[in-house]
Amino acid sequence: MRATQIAPTGVERTFGEDEIIVTKTDPRGVLTYANPVFLRLSALTEDEAIGQPHSIIRHPDMPRAVFKLLWDTLKSGQELFAYVVNLAADGAHYWVLAHVTPSFDQHDRLVGYHSSRRKPEPAAVATASALYAKLVAEERRHSGTREALDASWAMMHGMLDERGQTYDQFVWELTNGSAA
Ligand SMILES: Cc1cc2nc3c(=O)[nH]c(=O)nc-3n(C[C@H](O)[C@H](O)[C@H](O)COP(=O)(O)O)c2cc1C
Repeated sequence: MRATQIAPTGVERTFGEDEIIVTKTDPRGVLTYANPVFLRLSALTEDEAIGQPHSIIRHPDMPRAVFKLLWDTLKSGQELFAYVVNLAADGAHYWVLAHVTPSFDQHDRLVGYHSSRRKPEPAAVATASALYAKLVAEERRHSGTREALDASWAMMHGMLDERGQTYDQFVWELTNGSAA
């Protein structure tokens, strides 16, 4: 995938509190819509983005376990809020608080997915990135993709269990500014 070929530069890109990053995908996670804010932050043109898998902006610092949670949740018909760091085509990165939902037609058939993202608080990013760094380090200890995912999945749930939280509750605690 393209995203894995881009070397992160460590340059952080931010966006306005009044801006919303919006994308839509088909049921396989292929981009069908991207708003101008997404294109600007991701350093992509519309032609480069539409038709590509959403993983085009996947950052190597994102744990596999979080994406498993995302897809498990969406496939069960539920919505998810998540802290995500994305990789732009020029190597910059940007953190978001994402809200991802399945979209259904009038016959309750899945037509795709929708995501809107807001600028997160720096303190929330600090806590989420510390958790993600531990999960990614655990994943890198395993050579197989499956083993890496199983290990970080177990670690993520272990850490959340210690906090007495689901991932959703973790996100909301961070979002309300009370997490350490
Ligand atoms: C509506 C929607 C929005 C998504 N947004 C992102 C995103 O902003 N960043 C990202 O890396 N993955 C996002 N994903 C998840 C990707 O589809 C993919 O699972 C993830 O990038 C991991 O890719 P990989 O499984 O190839 O490693 C989104 C998926 C959907 C359905």
